[in-house]
Amino acid sequence: MIIIDGKKVSAEVKEQVAKETKELIKKGVTPGLAVILVGDDPASKVYVNNKKKACELVGFKSYEYKLPAETTQEELLSLVEELNNRKEINGILCQLPLPKGLDENAVIEAISPEKDVDAFHKQNVGRIMIGDYDFLPCTPAGIMEMLKAYDISVEGKDCVVIGRSNIVGKPMSMLLLHQNGTVTICHSRTKNLKEVTKRADILVAAVGIPKFVTADMVKDGAVVIDVGMDRDENGKLCGDVDFENVKDKCSYITPVPGGVGPMTIATLMKNTLKAAKLQNNL
Ligand code: GUN
Repeated sequence: MIIIDGKKVSAEVKEQVAKETKELIKKGVTPGLAVILVGDDPASKVYVNNKKKACELVGFKSYEYKLPAETTQEELLSLVEELNNRKEINGILCQLPLPKGLDENAVIEAISPEKDVDAFHKQNVGRIMIGDYDFLPCTPAGIMEMLKAYDISVEGKDCVVIGRSNIVGKPMSMLLLHQNGTVTICHSRTKNLKEVTKRADILVAAVGIPKFVTADMVKDGAVVIDVGMDRDENGKLCGDVDFENVKDKCSYITPVPGGVGPMTIATLMKNTLKAAKLQNNL
């Protein structure tokens, strides 16, 4: 069993981004990423802070907008509009989830597709669907990068994704399909979940329930990818996979923390660099 080191792979990706950023800065362009955080969700605060740190590391300029939970839809949309129009800002990201009362879809659709480094805008989602895209969604693309780094082929494999969110489950399934996996998407209404997950050569858990995937749900020798960022009964950070009991059945498994999370941020850096290049015809 091999524990996939997301920190290591992400460091390599960020190093490459930093190298290319140096070249871009020589040409007069410093990539800029604007991150909007509304309200004070503690997990979101941590994610946003990690994104800011990664920007500094690779040489980007980061622009942080911390808005109170009472922010109105109009205020939020007018900030997005302002950022759409600023040339020094190449990527715009609004951390989800938004506080109650704010319309996530409306905010996503307001972000200029050229600056949508999350790849959440319907124009970018549609382009991913047909395989003609500039940006890939950060978490699924980070997972694909991690599989590649460990020479794990998807071709012809039975891939099972648990979770059907727009952020992870659905785009993850599409990327696995692009690489010729045979993909099954499971969700809360799936019958006989265990029978389905047991068939998986590659199992991706993106449900948001601590330790949801237990050893009896995993095939011997499976590759298990844990997208969860949950808290266990003691408030300790854990994933959607019962790591201690599942790990010995796997050929490869990602830990939480130190697995998928760092890869998400590394992909965000890649997307922002690409946005800066495209917007400046470089
Ligand atoms: N919330 C959880 N994951 C993400 C992500 O990748 N991007 C944004 N904007 N919000 C998130």
